[in-house]
Order: sequence, then structure tokens, then C-alpha cells
Amino acid sequence: MATHDLLYEGKAKKVWGTAEPHEVAMEFKDDATAQNGLKRGQILDKGRVNARVTALLFDYLGTEGLPTHFIRQLDERTLLVRRLGMIPLEVIVRNVVAGSLHARTGILEGTELSAPLVEIYYKNDALGDPLFNDEHVAMMDAASPEELSRMKDMARSVNRHLQSFFLARRLILVDFKLEFGKIGSELILGDEITPDTCRLWDADTKKKLDKDRFRQDLGGVEDAYHEVLRRVEL
Ligand code: TMP
Repeated sequence: MATHDLLYEGKAKKVWGTAEPHEVAMEFKDDATAQNGLKRGQILDKGRVNARVTALLFDYLGTEGLPTHFIRQLDERTLLVRRLGMIPLEVIVRNVVAGSLHARTGILEGTELSAPLVEIYYKNDALGDPLFNDEHVAMMDAASPEELSRMKDMARSVNRHLQSFFLARRLILVDFKLEFGKIGSELILGDEITPDTCRLWDADTKKKLDKDRFRQDLGGVEDAYHEVLRRVEL
């Protein structure tokens, strides 16, 4: 399928227009960044892995009744998706303490939470994506209270489905980030779900199989991404 103009280029993806105004093509890049862009690099074959992982996970969530923007895979690293009006929030769900939750609370990495924790961040690179509460969301008019509540409910539902999907493949879903958009008044899951946007640990060894290997210079980054794809394809 011929793509048209480059509509947007982010740190890990390019979004292209298509002949159909309600659809866009999302191309996954090998580029990787961390620390809000301070650390930059490439992860060989990441674009292909992330496109495939997102396609398979969104296909699974779709069959479970969760609306996503995914239509079909166009080529190795490109997905055709519905064009959404994006909500400028990141919804993070956590099952196990890691990353910024460890940094903010001092609770030991690896501590299991008694219930999933849902957090909202404001998508703004210049501000470093700050943590927002419901009142900040309302003040900034980033989403209505009803939309925020629905996003949190959908994020909890995605978490339940993905936790069981990954556990069946001996992977622990530590935490992950979602982005939502709208078509009319309908809220739809957008963006990606990949080892860039999830923390995934091997259930038996607790080995990190996600972007933390890049963030923390742990080595074996490409192998970890390939291992996640192998298990998601099972
Ligand atoms: P954090 O511990 O750094 O807040 O990250 C929590 C999860 O969200 C982790 O799986 C990585 C993901 N994430 C993104 O995908 N994009 C982001 O901009 C941030 C801050 C986190």
C-alpha cells in the first residue's frame, strides 16, 4: 500500500498518511531513547519486533472486546491503524514495583503490589511527562472526568488480560504504559504495546526482558526483544 505524507515522527515511530483519511500507517523504528531523550541508541531489529508484538497483542485485546486502533499489519515494521484524536495523557499500570515508582517511594524493586496501581502522566517532552492527578487532568482540560474514569477502567481491563496472556508464556507483566485516543466520543486504545512500553520479567528467573536492558546498560538487549516476540507468538 502506498503511503503518503509523513504526519509525525516520534522517538520510536513514524506516522504516515494513507489514501484513506481515517487511517494512518505506523512505522516502528530501531531508534531507542531513555532518560527523556538524553540517552540515545539503536536496538537492532526492534522496529520489526515491536510492530509484530503490537499487532499480536492488539489483535488479542480486540478479540477480548477491547477497542484498539489496530487494523492490520502492512509490512514487517508497519501497521495500518485507525486515525485517532490523541488524548495527551499516558496511563501507566503497575503490578510490581520498578522504575519511577521505586524512585518515588523507596519501595524495593520487585515488591508485588496488593492491587494494580494506575497512574496518569501528562504527555509533554519539554516538561518531562509529569505525574498528574485527576485535578491536574481537569485543570489542563486533557480529558473529561468521564473519559479519565473510562480510561482507567479500560487500562485495568487491559492489565487483567495481558497479565494472563503473559503469564501463560512465563512472563511477569511488571508495568506498562497505554495511550488512548478518540473517534467521535468513543475511547480507543492507541499507540503500541511492546518491550519499549512494558516491563516484562521471566517468571522463573526474573530476568528483565524489556527496554530496561537498554536503559540500564545490562547487555543482551536484542536477544531480550527476540525472546519476548518468540513467546508472544506462541
Ligand atoms: P516508569 O517506571 O519509568 O514510570 O515507567 C513505567 C512503565 O511505563 C515502563 O514499563 C515504561 C513505560 N513508559 C513508557 O512507555 N513511556 C514513558 O514515557 C514512560 C515514562 C514510561
